[in-house]
Amino acid sequence: MNLLEMALEARTKAHAPYSHFQVGAALESTDGRVFTGCNVENATYGLSVCAERVAVFKAISEGARKFQRIAVSADTDVLTPPCGACRQILWEFCGDIELTLVNLHGKTETLHLRDLFPRPFDASFL
Ligand code: THU
Repeated sequence: MNLLEMALEARTKAHAPYSHFQVGAALESTDGRVFTGCNVENATYGLSVCAERVAVFKAISEGARKFQRIAVSADTDVLTPPCGACRQILWEFCGDIELTLVNLHGKTETLHLRDLFPRPFDASFL
């Protein structure tokens, strides 16, 4: 299974009983490991976590520190990009990572995080 297929497969695990909007992510580290994530919602709504952050936090908790690619899947005609919070977290751990968006019809777009997040705040300001 390639990274896009893994993101699509991860989406099927989404816990999204409130929004019914299912998202999947697959994050590849430079050593070739892949960490998947899906969105996990909560009845309080605000505690819900996006697929991208689940994938990043799984990866970090497994000891991965360098990443080369992430794929994000959703069932939308206009490809779904990471939300603002996820862009910040991705920047922190993955820098200007290659990002591929994919939908259920196989439409894809590949870009870099910088394209979506041009002037990030990060540790360089501290
Ligand atoms: N969501 C993600 O998981 N990733 C995104 O890139 C956009 C939004 C989730 C959060 C929430 O569970 C649902 O989609 C609706 O916002």
